Amino acid sequence: MAVESKFDPKDMIFRHLGPTGLKVSVFSLGGWLTYGGTQKGNIVKECLEAAWNHGVNFFDTAEVYANGQSEIEMGNALKELAWPRDEYVLSTKIFFGTGRKEPNTRGLSKKHVVEGLKSSLARLQQPYVDIVLAHRPDVGTPMKEIVEGFTQVIRNLNLAYYWGTSEWSATQIMEATQIAEKYNLIAPIAEQPQYNAFHRERFEVEYGPLYEQFKYGTTIWSPLASGLLTGKYNDGIPKDSRFATNKAFFENTVKELESPEGKAKIEKVKKLTTIAEKLGGSVTQLSLAWAAKNPNVSTVILGATKVEQIEDNLGALKLIEKLTPDVMEEIEGILDNKPKKPADFGRSRI
Ligand SMILES: NC(=O)c1ccc[n+]([C@@H]2O[C@H](COP(=O)([O-])OP(=O)(O)OC[C@H]3O[C@@H](n4cnc5c(N)ncnc54)[C@H](OP(=O)(O)O)[C@@H]3O)[C@@H](O)[C@H]2O)c1
Repeated sequence: MAVESKFDPKDMIFRHLGPTGLKVSVFSLGGWLTYGGTQKGNIVKECLEAAWNHGVNFFDTAEVYANGQSEIEMGNALKELAWPRDEYVLSTKIFFGTGRKEPNTRGLSKKHVVEGLKSSLARLQQPYVDIVLAHRPDVGTPMKEIVEGFTQVIRNLNLAYYWGTSEWSATQIMEATQIAEKYNLIAPIAEQPQYNAFHRERFEVEYGPLYEQFKYGTTIWSPLASGLLTGKYNDGIPKDSRFATNKAFFENTVKELESPEGKAKIEKVKKLTTIAEKLGGSVTQLSLAWAAKNPNVSTVILGATKVEQIEDNLGALKLIEKLTPDVMEEIEGILDNKPKKPADFGRSRI
């Protein structure tokens, strides 16, 4: 029976996820703290639908988000939306478990990679995810076992097509890749790191060799530094904002805002706002477009509690091409935090 196409890419940009043939929209949507956390029911479906209606084809969650509730809420929404499964890309992440304390219900042992992913899929009401990520490195499991576990869920169990890493060091990613090559196992294809205008070092410097050697992909998180780069915290903490609704988690972040470093960040947000306005956009859109402009970013994962935020954030698409070298230099001058790359002693790369 012919499948009726439901996806309209509109003016979305699509990029290959790392060295694979899989294409993801340059803006995607995730469920940390939001779906299953502060937001439940219809609003979850409305947010996913708003993103989809703008050409977003990639959605991200994790077993640990709201202790499994994020997968449940996003799974319910996906079921109701009933998009053809080959038109969207779904990822989940395994490592932290769902809040249980038994020794084998977290980590990256073969047992938890397989059983954790099976439980995630049951919550999502999905037969597979496109990408399963190791949500953190696990120094308590041999790397060969980790690579074998992810190979098993892909090659033997058909529970995923690809696997990736999240907040692994470049050395750990290299080790996993070399083990995969040596033992004919499957190598990871993408990393999910934090990347935004205030958090750059690891993404821009440490991972450099991974982009060059493996075309390693990235699905970046907290592109707005949890909302700081929207300007919403310039004059305090709004009651319905993340820093207020997740007070305990962001206690240190809020304290930092009062420090000279925190105040300096707010000043930078204000200066970036002026540039954004000159380009006909908001500082939110400028910050998202700045991240998407980096060719090593495969997709920028958005977070949103409201449909209006998604509409606003996807306006960043139109700013990407306005970020000319001159504008990028002006932004660099304001940020004043460009990480230094290691010296090449006048030797260019072959
Ligand atoms: N792998 C990892 O370790 C990891 C860690 C964190 C996140 N992630 C992934 O990355 C995704 C995105 O991260 P994130 O949620 O931290 O992204 P973010 O863009 O830095 O923050 C999103 C939050 O900022 C606020 N916001 C967004 N757009 C706004 C707008 N236009 N105006 C005003 N406020 C706005 C909303 O919070 P309020 O409305 O509540 O203020 C929203 O939930 C997550 O959902 C998750 O999938 C992965």
